[in-house]
Amino acid sequence: MSLPIAVLISGSGSNLQSIIEKMEDNILDVDIKVVLSNKADAYGLKRAEAYGIPTAVLSHKDFGPREEFDAEMVRILKEAGVEAVVMAGFMRIITPVFLNAFPGKIVNIHPAILPSFPGVDGQGDAAKYGVQLAGCTAHFVDEKMDHGAVIIQAAVPAYPGEDEDELRERILKQEHRILPQAVQWLAKDRLSVEGRFVKLAEADVDLAETDGLSLINPPLEVGF
Ligand code: GRF
Repeated sequence: MSLPIAVLISGSGSNLQSIIEKMEDNILDVDIKVVLSNKADAYGLKRAEAYGIPTAVLSHKDFGPREEFDAEMVRILKEAGVEAVVMAGFMRIITPVFLNAFPGKIVNIHPAILPSFPGVDGQGDAAKYGVQLAGCTAHFVDEKMDHGAVIIQAAVPAYPGEDEDELRERILKQEHRILPQAVQWLAKDRLSVEGRFVKLAEADVDLAETDGLSLINPPLEVGF
């Protein structure tokens, strides 16, 4: 039984693309009911359309308080039969109106090893700090930005002073692996949260080969 999900985007949608491809390859047990963006020009909308996935655009300029915007998002997602939400580069803060509609079922990808470098430019902040290790985090969303319980993280080497785009690409490659993996564990109901701690239930699945470049924990499974 596939988990009916929505993917929220604001831009390119390369993380969305990774989820779509793994769904199409029957690696990811999800059914993307709708891709929603707050930006009409988000390229990710074209990625969804290319696979016949329904899309929706909600401009926050058309709404008053954040709660009104969130209530309309909830209406659209519930109408589409969505049970879990993936935030893949969705650049808006959500309110309890949205959180309470999908309790414990909202996952976000952040391009830094949280709690380091929260906010809108995790990669850039890490690069400017001169870190030797950077990375990304897939986590549950709670009422604070980039704060929810951590599901999976990947660390990659950083080279102080390197071209920031090279670091962004190195991190993004791992985002495309850990986010779908986190969504799969959610789809298979293998995640439980106790306070800040996410526990992954055991399962009879093979682990992926490591690429020697990154450290990922919990380890990825074959296909991710
Ligand atoms: C990703 O780096 C994500 O971590 C951050 O925004 C970027 C979105 O990229 N929140 P894309 O739209 O998935 O290509």
